[in-house]
Amino acid sequence: MDLFEYQARDLFAAHGVPVLDARVADTAEQAEVAAAELGAGTVVVKAQVKTGGRGKAGGVKLAHSPAEAGARAREILGMDIKGHTVHRVMLAPAASIAEEFYVSVLLDRANRSYLAMASREGGMEIEQLAVAKPEALARVPVDPLRGIDAAVARDIVRAGGFAPEVTEQVAEVLVALWEVFTAEDATLVEVNPLVRTADGRIIALDGKVTLDENAGFRHPEHAELADRGGTDPLEVRARERDLNYVKLDGEVGIIGNGAGLVMATLDVVAYAGQDFGGVKPANFLDIGGGASADVMANGLEIILGDPSVRSVFVNVFGGITACDAVATGIVQAMEMLKERGERIDKPLVVRLDGNNAEKGRAILAEAEHDLIEMVDTMDSAARRAAELAAASG
Ligand SMILES: Nc1ncnc2c1ncn2[C@@H]1O[C@H](COP(=O)(O)OP(=O)(O)OP(=O)(O)O)[C@@H](O)[C@H]1O
Ligand SMILES: [Mg+2]
Repeated sequence: MDLFEYQARDLFAAHGVPVLDARVADTAEQAEVAAAELGAGTVVVKAQVKTGGRGKAGGVKLAHSPAEAGARAREILGMDIKGHTVHRVMLAPAASIAEEFYVSVLLDRANRSYLAMASREGGMEIEQLAVAKPEALARVPVDPLRGIDAAVARDIVRAGGFAPEVTEQVAEVLVALWEVFTAEDATLVEVNPLVRTADGRIIALDGKVTLDENAGFRHPEHAELADRGGTDPLEVRARERDLNYVKLDGEVGIIGNGAGLVMATLDVVAYAGQDFGGVKPANFLDIGGGASADVMANGLEIILGDPSVRSVFVNVFGGITACDAVATGIVQAMEMLKERGERIDKPLVVRLDGNNAEKGRAILAEAEHDLIEMVDTMDSAARRAAELAAASG
């Protein structure tokens, strides 16, 4: 999960990376108040979008009074930067910049290690610097057991070509960044630019942090950092229920077990749909191996709650979790949804194959649910689901 700059700034502050005081604002009026609160003569108003190049796109502007900060915020809010709409700005006191540097710590997957990067020439995009002047960008592998202590940090700073007078301060920043990296379970922490101000302070003026979602269980507090506005509401609900769900723009809801099977199901449904006016899959949903009634109910609830879904295709290949368990899960899930007061009025086409398929089919046949229809093969089931979706459209 990538964070917004203001969120990265908060994490930096919490771990001792020097940052400027800052406020966020969602409206021009809030921005004016925020600028007044900062009490600085000149402030910078910065678009909060998860992409670089905000400065060049006009998303970073100076303002010399609270009223002007409001006016700049009005210009920036709603702006489109590389496909990202600006909904929020961050305000900070303007720093008087003497020099701009670059430092980062990241997970280096190719080398199965951690990597620190540092350059005395910051400000410009690091990808450009790496191409234009690779010798100016130091890349120093970090021993995961030792991490970045003061001595390691000094080596990184020296490799980055920094002047001796700033070595100590920049090294302290690197030690603190390593603290952010490990304590927050990040895969990237980047400061561009890290600046030296005219009065000799070293400050992180822009921060980028990517958190490792696989470590999310260790950080319940990170849940608050998720950008709900930027994701599909169905995907947000699915995530809350730990489901592997991706919203697509078709009409046939899909549930399957195993990512490969679900991907193949998307293909056969899209293919079958061509004969029915071009209906398409409405989502990807992999309920995984242990498809309990609970998981099935949660999955069905998400899919049935999608207003564009007109039919549902449940495609299950019984393995360790056999088809009879899945069939029982489907029947119980329909009951559960009824109890939860969900409206269930969309037809379900179910294809069961593999371990205990016969038993599974018998369970569904016995349940005689009027919305559930069984079809033996994946291709015919996809066709039927597409046909039902087209018929109800
Ligand atoms: N508080 C500040 N005071 C003065 N100048 C600032 C401040 N914050 C940012 N800047 C200037 O604006 C530039 C761009 O800001 P920033 O790095 O935060 O955005 P960016 O999205 O990385 O933009 P770009 O890729 O165009 O540099 C910085 O390099 C710096 O020169
Ligand atoms: Mg930057």
